[in-house]
Amino acid sequence: MIKINFKNSKIENEISNFSISKIQDVHNMIENKTGLGNDFLGWVNWPVEFDKDELVKMKKVVENLREKIEVLLVVGIGGSYLGARAADEMIRGLYSKDKVELIYIGNTISSTYTQQIVEYVKDKEFGIVNISKSGTTTEPGIAFRVFEKLLVDLKGKEASRERIVAVTDKSKGALKQLATAEGYETFTIPDDIGGRFSVFTPVGIFPLLVAGVSVDDIFKGAKKAMEDTKDINNDAYKYAVARHILHTEKGYKAETLVGYELQMQTFTEWWKQLYGESEGKEGKGLFPTSCVFSTDLHSLGQFIQEGSKNILFETIIDIKNPNIDLNVPTNSEDLDGLNYLTTKSFHEINKVALEGVIDAHANTGEVPNIVLEFDKMDAEMFGYAAYWFMKSCAMSGYFLEINPFNQPGVEVYKTNMFKLLKKPGF
Ligand code: PA5
Repeated sequence: MIKINFKNSKIENEISNFSISKIQDVHNMIENKTGLGNDFLGWVNWPVEFDKDELVKMKKVVENLREKIEVLLVVGIGGSYLGARAADEMIRGLYSKDKVELIYIGNTISSTYTQQIVEYVKDKEFGIVNISKSGTTTEPGIAFRVFEKLLVDLKGKEASRERIVAVTDKSKGALKQLATAEGYETFTIPDDIGGRFSVFTPVGIFPLLVAGVSVDDIFKGAKKAMEDTKDINNDAYKYAVARHILHTEKGYKAETLVGYELQMQTFTEWWKQLYGESEGKEGKGLFPTSCVFSTDLHSLGQFIQEGSKNILFETIIDIKNPNIDLNVPTNSEDLDGLNYLTTKSFHEINKVALEGVIDAHANTGEVPNIVLEFDKMDAEMFGYAAYWFMKSCAMSGYFLEINPFNQPGVEVYKTNMFKLLKKPGF
């Protein structure tokens, strides 16, 4: 479902000559759970080992919830937020007509954003899913307080209980305690799956079920990627090899993941977290950035074409089939001179842009380009792609000899903030 093309990478030979035994060793570390952070490898076989009873229970809860609400507030940040949003937007698009709208809160401390959502939902039928593995993260914690109070004020305690769900650790953390005390339905984030690898757990699956997305197809895609990456000769590992060569042998410092569809923008945000938090430690790692073309060709395109060299390379997501295509209408007067485009669809024009840009950036601009061809943008493809990148990221992180599954650097700001806010114990 993902085809990789290194024709414009400028390192085709280096990729072919990369040590197979190194790939085999790291593959064994991932599969046999023998590397650094091996207590966080629960995601590797999750597409077949996930809790089937919990999925049945989630589907039942969601069936009732979808009857009652028109908006689901998804409370969470980082790995407890980006996966669901990436999937929601990739699969349903940005202006879905599905009955339930998903709105994301707790991913910011912005008072303006939060209060605007209060105003937006207060006259609507809404529910809340509060997602936090630790159950103690400040941003979702304070946002949940605001919206839980709003719901209880509007509907009363009893009715609110039927509209609030928690996704958290099975026994630890303030959210678990709160949910138990208030009688909220709770689903579990497994101990051995970290935030940025958790999209196939209730963290992603619960909101996506409420959005009406086929999670069975998501698991189907993830399982296929899991099977495809059990053999070491796979494209996810080749992508890890290419990144490693560009970073450690050729000296590149940053990678930009480029989409040509606006509905892929949050997918690239999810990817940024996955790679940034997994690899950016001990003074190592590529800085992950993202672009949406052709939008950003009118801004960052200038820098990529002619700016500082040997800093950035591009990885392009090329979507083969759009969810919807449309034609450029003919106009008998042709005052804007665009009739020459009426024999082509928007998607065909988008593809021409992609080809022209790769040629301009890679050949004229000397920027290495890796192309990932995705079949489509649906639930199965999301499952496949998310798993594919996670597996590739594990390989890539172990190549750097770091622990890809922790995030000690994230704690530094949190501790500072707690001290400044005079949180008890800090
Ligand atoms: O990937 C991670 O571990 C982080 O991004 C966390 O998901 C994020 O900090 C939110 O943490 P929590 O789910 O504990 O609220």
